Amino acid sequence: MALVSAKEMLNKAKEGKYAVGQFNINNLEWTKAILLTAQENNSPVILGVSEGAGKYMCGYKTIVGMVNGMLEELKITVPVALHLDHGSFEGAKACIEAGFSSVMFDGSHYAIEENIQKTKEIIEIASSKGISVEAEVGSIGGEEDGVIGAGEVADPAECKQIADLGVTMLAAGIGNIHGVYPENWAGLSFETLEKIDNSVGTMPLVLHGGTGIPADMIKKAISLGVSKINVNTECQLAFAAATRKYVEEGKDLQGKGFDPRKLLAPGFEAIKATVKEKMELFGSINRA
Ligand code: 13P
Repeated sequence: MALVSAKEMLNKAKEGKYAVGQFNINNLEWTKAILLTAQENNSPVILGVSEGAGKYMCGYKTIVGMVNGMLEELKITVPVALHLDHGSFEGAKACIEAGFSSVMFDGSHYAIEENIQKTKEIIEIASSKGISVEAEVGSIGGEEDGVIGAGEVADPAECKQIADLGVTMLAAGIGNIHGVYPENWAGLSFETLEKIDNSVGTMPLVLHGGTGIPADMIKKAISLGVSKINVNTECQLAFAAATRKYVEEGKDLQGKGFDPRKLLAPGFEAIKATVKEKMELFGSINRA
């Protein structure tokens, strides 16, 4: 099946009170692991690409080629969206051009007027091609690929202004941060989430920083209108731990254990297990 926009899968998720996972990709192993897990569990999925990962993977066209090739060769039939994560204005335009089926324009670091203006321009370009657009209000805290957010809590009135432009899904800061949560983290602000959900109606909401959010908070967030949850660091930690174990056990020194297909296999399996666990928690299994 060809790539699809994230619109239909997220509208269905909002209505059915579950969430679709966005899992960020870094290379072929990541992409294959996520696509196979989605197919095996009959779950819709969103492949996230940060601008940094885009550069690492030799540019957006390379990624579109790789993902489209895998959809065909692996016979993937579940809905898959290829989505730019935290895109700049230029990055969003480049991904639309290159064949992505979804983009995030993150204008949260601009003043609200400029965020509105730029988001509007991206929607105009994307909607003529049936591409979904995610916008952001109130930045997500922490660091991701060199992009640092202060982690402010979004203003529900500003969320409504951005939602009314016709975005497909909205990321709103509710105390969430990228990366591992610090010991003294105050938790998600459900009060803010509830107000935002009431102000934007049926629009799917996006929860960034999915790594390390306790299961009960994830479930509560979904019940309050979150329909897309982004996970990045958790797959990286799982991959690194499994690879470390393989090397520390000296397996790369036994027989042909140095073969990259063997060396990367435990990390690959660890990503699959992490993605499956998240799909179970988000409730997206058998929703394709
Ligand atoms: P984590 O790395 O904390 O899982 O966040 C992922 C994310 O929000 C990508 O935009």
